[in-house]
Amino acid sequence: MIVREKPEWGELATFKPNKKLPVYRWFYYKEGYARDLVFEVIRKFGLNSGQTVLDPFCGVGTTLLACREKGLESVGFDVNPPAVFASTVKTRDYDVRALKNAADDVLARRFESPDLGNLSPLAKRAFNRHTLDDVLFFRNIIMQMDDRTSRDFLMLALINVSMKCSYAWKDGAVIKIRRHPVPPLRKLLKRQIGYMIRDIARLRLSGADADVRFGDARKMNLPDSTADAVITSPPYLNKIEYSKVYSLENELFFSGLGLAPVRSHIGIRPEDVRKEDDRLSDVIDTSDLNEQSLAYFNDMHDTIKEMHRVTKDGGMSAVVVGNGCFPNGVVDSDMILSRIAEHAGFEAQEVLVLSKRWCTRNRVEKVGQTRESLLVWKK
Ligand SMILES: C[S@@+](CC[C@H](N)C(=O)[O-])C[C@H]1O[C@@H](n2cnc3c(N)ncnc32)[C@H](O)[C@@H]1O
Repeated sequence: MIVREKPEWGELATFKPNKKLPVYRWFYYKEGYARDLVFEVIRKFGLNSGQTVLDPFCGVGTTLLACREKGLESVGFDVNPPAVFASTVKTRDYDVRALKNAADDVLARRFESPDLGNLSPLAKRAFNRHTLDDVLFFRNIIMQMDDRTSRDFLMLALINVSMKCSYAWKDGAVIKIRRHPVPPLRKLLKRQIGYMIRDIARLRLSGADADVRFGDARKMNLPDSTADAVITSPPYLNKIEYSKVYSLENELFFSGLGLAPVRSHIGIRPEDVRKEDDRLSDVIDTSDLNEQSLAYFNDMHDTIKEMHRVTKDGGMSAVVVGNGCFPNGVVDSDMILSRIAEHAGFEAQEVLVLSKRWCTRNRVEKVGQTRESLLVWKK
């Protein structure tokens, strides 16, 4: 296996470049990567239109949308409802006239005070009263619309501006509340819809299909040998718990849904860890791993076996991942996942190191360096 530095792709492992791209920017996802990383991988693997790309952790659809631009069929899975929703809305085709009519209709409605119902203390603290009224008022109107495509499009615009008008701030793995002056939601919503409609004409999409599914990467409902390639980025060890960080969006717009995320940030019962440790210890040396790492690598073991099952012989995988940072040191996820991939039947060909960061204890004391890497595997 070759380990090589590739710092020129460092920024492409972040969502930042997408903020300037039409459609890609409709839902900011700190955990996402850049469209151009997907383009680079498509070029590297020599993929051609008509072939199928799988993203088992599709987030807000960066891989899928990039594939639509390049004429590649794609299928993506995710368990975070706002992400699945954003992926779906971003990869659709639109009738701009229908959208404009729907938007005019919604924006012309006169305000009526909504019922605040049983909102959580977090939701009540995350908005001022006027904004919360507006969020729920527009949400209720949009939810009643018959045409699903327009309804989802407008709902994504509303989710986007609701978060901009809130006091909530995602600080890594937690939501913090910072009160500050916020713009009127109705005005921002009108502007957001306008620029999303203009974005549609700015992005040329092929007729290739993007199939977005709410589902678990560890058990994908796909036949064997479906994908020509996998381009993906799983949750990073000890980084964020998606269900917690997106709990506000989930409560206000997606309540009642939910699947188990890959465990990047939970403690589990010691008896379960011991059981799981037995399975994993056939694959990697588990003696130095803490419970959280064991749980994570067990989940990733299941996922990688699934990736192998659904990939065609000779198919390539590109997996962007960061190492785990703990107070007592760094866990080299890139190397461990490559070992797990080999055990599952892949040939782990490359680790391209995109960036390096210090891992610190109490935010100051350096305990080691973490890498963010792109792993290249062949079935
Ligand atoms: C690093 S992000 C991927 C971001 C994506 N590359 C993008 O650009 O939007 C990892 C994703 O894995 C999802 N995830 C976590 N557990 C999952 C599971 N069991 N099955 C499928 N997706 C999962 C999270 O919700 C998150 O969206």
